[in-house]
Amino acid sequence: MASLPLSCSSITPTTTTTRTFVTAPPGLSAHNATRTRRFNLSCKAKNGGDEQRETLGNEETFQGKFDRRNLLVGMGGLYGAANLVSAESSPAFASPISAPDLSKCTRGTNLNTQQPLDVNCCPPLSQKIIDYKLPPITKMRFRPAAHLASQEYIAKYEKAVELMKALPEDDPRSFMQQANVHCAYCNLTYEQTGDPSMRLQIHNSWHFFPWHRWYLYFYERILGKLIDDPTFGLPFWNWDNPPGMVMPNMFVKKDSPLFNPRRNQDHLPPAATDLNYAGKPTTDPSKIIPNNLTEMYSEMVRNVSTLEDFYGAKYVTGDKPDPGPGTVERGSHTALHVWVGQATPSGEDMGNFYSAGREPLFFSHHANVDRLWSIWRGLRGPKPKDFPESDWLNANFLFYDENAQLVRVKVADTLENQKMGFVWQEVDLPWLNNRPTARVKKSKVATTTAAPKATETVFPVKLDKVVKVLVDRPKKSRSKKDKEKEEELLVIDGIEVDTAKFVRFEVYINDEDDKADEIIDKAEYAGCYSQVPHKNSTKVKSKIRLGLTELLEDLDVEDDDKILVSLVPRAGGEDITIGGIKIIYAS
Ligand code: C2O
Repeated sequence: MASLPLSCSSITPTTTTTRTFVTAPPGLSAHNATRTRRFNLSCKAKNGGDEQRETLGNEETFQGKFDRRNLLVGMGGLYGAANLVSAESSPAFASPISAPDLSKCTRGTNLNTQQPLDVNCCPPLSQKIIDYKLPPITKMRFRPAAHLASQEYIAKYEKAVELMKALPEDDPRSFMQQANVHCAYCNLTYEQTGDPSMRLQIHNSWHFFPWHRWYLYFYERILGKLIDDPTFGLPFWNWDNPPGMVMPNMFVKKDSPLFNPRRNQDHLPPAATDLNYAGKPTTDPSKIIPNNLTEMYSEMVRNVSTLEDFYGAKYVTGDKPDPGPGTVERGSHTALHVWVGQATPSGEDMGNFYSAGREPLFFSHHANVDRLWSIWRGLRGPKPKDFPESDWLNANFLFYDENAQLVRVKVADTLENQKMGFVWQEVDLPWLNNRPTARVKKSKVATTTAAPKATETVFPVKLDKVVKVLVDRPKKSRSKKDKEKEEELLVIDGIEVDTAKFVRFEVYINDEDDKADEIIDKAEYAGCYSQVPHKNSTKVKSKIRLGLTELLEDLDVEDDDKILVSLVPRAGGEDITIGGIKIIYAS
């Protein structure tokens, strides 16, 4: 650890250290300046003894309290079926997604073929569930950038994973059981508690960031416990920063427990990670890095004015899975899942949800996703960072902790990484100020093109070819004040895809060039939709929203009354149907 510049693990008890984590770069435009804030990282340590067991209180007992979670989450008939029925039928119970009943986990079905899946990822059962309380922080865990990690750190991490792989198969902390946690929550194997007609899926919704934070949290604590190091933190794959835009070396050494043979062999170092990966090599490899930085800017700055756009769409009990992913999830996150996995249709391990957790690199990929969440919250300044709704905050999940105890955790406890006891190494954010420029400014394309109007296009439309539509803007020539108050959003609705397939399309504004894929680093690029395949295939309907306010400024077409939208299929277009397109204004 000696080579790392920031090590909260070295902080002595009762000391508070404050570090500048992100600094607004000089020369920001006024527009960007409002979005870039300085924020501080505080590593606070308290005196404290053995951090674990004594802090986990509230062992669950049924005391006649009519709490739906207590009724439904428990194992089998532990709490009595009679109560269960009345609890479910009462509309008075809150609707947040609630921890699944593990005893009702099923292998799952391919909903297209009605055949059972050839994978079983149900977890071991436990006799009791504990409501998890975040333990007091005695020492901060430190998550280094994978490409900067010291030999000493790598040796420790390898040892920890080796020990995890050596645990008995039925130990919920073993490597395969941990991999199966992802499979079970992501492959429609659980029924939704409160609505057994619906299956549980935590992706493509507002639970994407919180659920994965908990998943990594326990994985990290299990590893730390195995090597008896309470400061151990997972390395993050710093793919948003050019020095990190390659598969980290520690994962490609053949004799390492971090190695995995099931990867796309064309993407081993020195291949550059492609955050816009569409299943084939980029036409112009020299554009991968500029494209990556624009993609990051789009996901983290331009397209995330509202909470929903960053986090993903609301998802509560009774909802169908996959209501709509946020920018990072559908963008860089999905691209790298598929980029790492084998080039087969099912993409094992990383490129398919059921097997992604078997890839040691998964946890570094998600440690970066997790980090981007904290950075985004820091960039919000005074704007709200979290949904205030209890449907989000009270949503809860089950995990096994480092002591193999089944614990129930809730979204509200994930919001601040420092309260959870971990920080990331400080690195550059080269995308932060990377506002793209227009390929063609003041384009008159929207008024002269022969493309049909959105209102004339027959939706649903299949994306087996590029689809161009003219979309009316309900408001034009908006003032600076209007723009600050409301973001102009392009809503692409009723996106119907087969979840077994990797699909991707990109959206361009006022661009008639069919080489759209080459201009991701230009202002005309509005964003993308993309999904990691699931084994438990089904048809879903999702929605995405793309920010237009800044984009239209960059193209200098704020006064136009319509825009030309190009939907460019890049992978699996014949499996994508679009339900409709419109512009809305939202804050
Ligand atoms: Cu749960 Cu990156 O997927």
